Amino acid sequence: MNPMLGFAVKAARRAGDIINRAAENIEQLTVQHKTKNDLVSEVDRAAEAEIINSLKNVYPEHAFLAEESGRTGSSEFEWIIDPLDGTTNFLHGFPVYGVSIALAYKKQLQVAVVFDPCRNDLYTASRGAGAYLNEKRIRVSKRDKLIDCLIGTGFPFKANSDIETYAEMFKTVALNTAGIRRPGAAALDLANVAAGRLDGFWEIGLSPWDMAAGALLIKEAGGLVGDLEGEDQFLETGKIIAGNPKIFAQMLSTLRPHSKKLT
Ligand code: IPD
Ligand code: CA
Ligand code: CA
Repeated sequence: MNPMLGFAVKAARRAGDIINRAAENIEQLTVQHKTKNDLVSEVDRAAEAEIINSLKNVYPEHAFLAEESGRTGSSEFEWIIDPLDGTTNFLHGFPVYGVSIALAYKKQLQVAVVFDPCRNDLYTASRGAGAYLNEKRIRVSKRDKLIDCLIGTGFPFKANSDIETYAEMFKTVALNTAGIRRPGAAALDLANVAAGRLDGFWEIGLSPWDMAAGALLIKEAGGLVGDLEGEDQFLETGKIIAGNPKIFAQMLSTLRPHSKKLT
């Protein structure tokens, strides 16, 4: 295993231990609102500190971009971290949340880990070496007609979040697919595309830490990831479409007409 991936896996499992321990006593957690509907708990912070400390121990010169502590350090190597993706689910005891860690070198994603502590499922990828779930190779689905597809998404929930345009997109996708799912943790949704359980995914208003690891998983599983113009700017714009290559193309032509209306 790529040594950097090995250290990322260790860090993700440690964060998973913190999350699992805290899940036994959710009512006792202190929760703060960052903005409306955007929650952070002491678990998010403790898991993030654990991940950063354990990676810093090995790579003291690397930079970090993490949800709760922002950007620290300056290096061509940057770790992109969501210590607990799906905080709202976690705080409700709804078992869909996970840890997401990616490493970029000169802005190019190199290794990815998404860890689902509820199922003890570990998704890993390194550039050029494929994607794995618990050490078994995973590939995107083979479905080729959008109408047969199960598509994941996330609802915009912050103020001024293009909810009207999103609702139009939702309607189009709902009418042209087998179904839509909104599990509530973008990193796991993308991992599920990589594993072929969802045929595609789209969301607007995401942050780099929600997408970085999941995007590399999908690419290494043979899928495509892009923004709503079909370009590669999803980490910058927060707008993402992903899927197997055939479905990516069909989602793009379905959703692109709406993207001009987004702010
Ligand atoms: C959220 C989840 C959710 C997505 C939100 C994200 P968080 O991450 O990934 O599925 O719809 O946009 O902010 O805040 O729970 O880490
Ligand atoms: Ca997140
Ligand atoms: Ca988070």
